[in-house]
Formats: sequence, C-alpha cells, structure tokens
Amino acid sequence: MATIKYLGHSCFTIATGGKNLIIDPFLTGNPLAGAKAADIKADYILVTHGHGDHFGDTIEIAKNNNATVIGPNEIAVFCQSKGVSAHNMHIGGGWDFPFGRVKLTIAHHGYSAGGELDMGGSPCGFILTIEGKKIYHAGDTGLFMDMQIIGEEGIDLAMLPIGDNFTMGIDDAARAVEFIKPKKVVPMHYNTFDLIKVDPEEFKSKVKGAECIIMAVGDTIEL
Ligand code: NI
Ligand code: MN
Repeated sequence: MATIKYLGHSCFTIATGGKNLIIDPFLTGNPLAGAKAADIKADYILVTHGHGDHFGDTIEIAKNNNATVIGPNEIAVFCQSKGVSAHNMHIGGGWDFPFGRVKLTIAHHGYSAGGELDMGGSPCGFILTIEGKKIYHAGDTGLFMDMQIIGEEGIDLAMLPIGDNFTMGIDDAARAVEFIKPKKVVPMHYNTFDLIKVDPEEFKSKVKGAECIIMAVGDTIEL
C-alpha cells in the first residue's frame, strides 16, 4: 500500500515499497507548508515546472538526500548544473523507475520563472503507476480536452488545481473530473495566496462521479 501525504499547495509525498517520493516541494516560503525542507526524506523529487511554488526546495532536498530529480528535460538539466542527479524526461514519455512508472503529460501553463529559475521548458503533469494504482498529478494547468485521454488510462487518484487565477478554478476542475473519471480526486493549489483563495467545499459539492477528498495539510491517504 502506498501512503500519500499532503504538505500544502501542490506538494505531496508518496511512500511506496521503501522508497520516498515528493512532488513539487514548495515548503520554504509557504506559510501553510506541512514540513520543513530540512526534515524531508526523499529518494526521488518530481517537479512539474520551474515556478517557485513548485520547484521550491528541490535543490536543497536533493542535496540533503542524494535524491534524483524527475521532470521535464529543462528542469533536469538545471538540476544537473547544480550538481544534483536528475532523470531527463519530456511530455508523452514514460520510464520505469524502481518505485513504479512515471509518464509526463501536457499541462497548459507558462514556464518562465524569472531569475535563476528561468530555465524554460514546458510545464507537465505526471501519471504515476505505483503498486498497480494510477495517480495523476496535474501540475499547474487550465482545463484541456485531452484529460479524457489521461482518464482512459484508468486513474485511481487525481490531484487537481482548483485555485483559479493561475490554473483551473472550481468549475473547470469539476469538469476535469468528468473528463478524467478518477475514483478519487484531491483539490490542490488553493488558499496558499490571496489570489488563489477558494472554498474547497464548493469544489466538493460540484464533483460528480468521484470521491472528493479535501486533504488538510498533514493528512494522508492509503492507496
Ligand atoms: Ni506555475
Ligand atoms: Mn503554481
């Protein structure tokens, strides 16, 4: 059984078969973060794009743990330039890692991040196949029709942004659930900042055909 823990914003950890994964480790600077970067134990760090609220503490966590970063090529190249081990991938491609399979999906979003993080590339989402279960982390994205194709893979758990302004808002995220048809859906990327303040209960009330789980920071799901 895999244990998925929510650390706030779009950051989740997944513990599976003795391996520890963390997705979009934005902890330092997140007033709602569920952990300190220094305390994270990770073998792999999955990064959807270079924005600070996703790339976050990737370099520190990677160096502390000798972890491998997994993400779009441009993210991986940037990490390698910082002396961090990384596995270069890109959209549409998948790879079998010791913990399971990672496939990169499209995500309709920007990528220029400013400063040193302005590494270019295309943002992505992830489809993870872990212990026979499929997890879709959408990253930052607007609604797109191809979510139906993602849904055809048979998604057990989807993490979808609902915060509006930079990503899908509640209504589009509820439509995304109808496209993806996951068994379970968890909202993310909301309430961290004033610009993405929304009520997750409103999202839950609009979700059809899936179990909506509003995870408080620190909550876990067994999958
Ligand atoms: Ni972003
Ligand atoms: Mn974001």
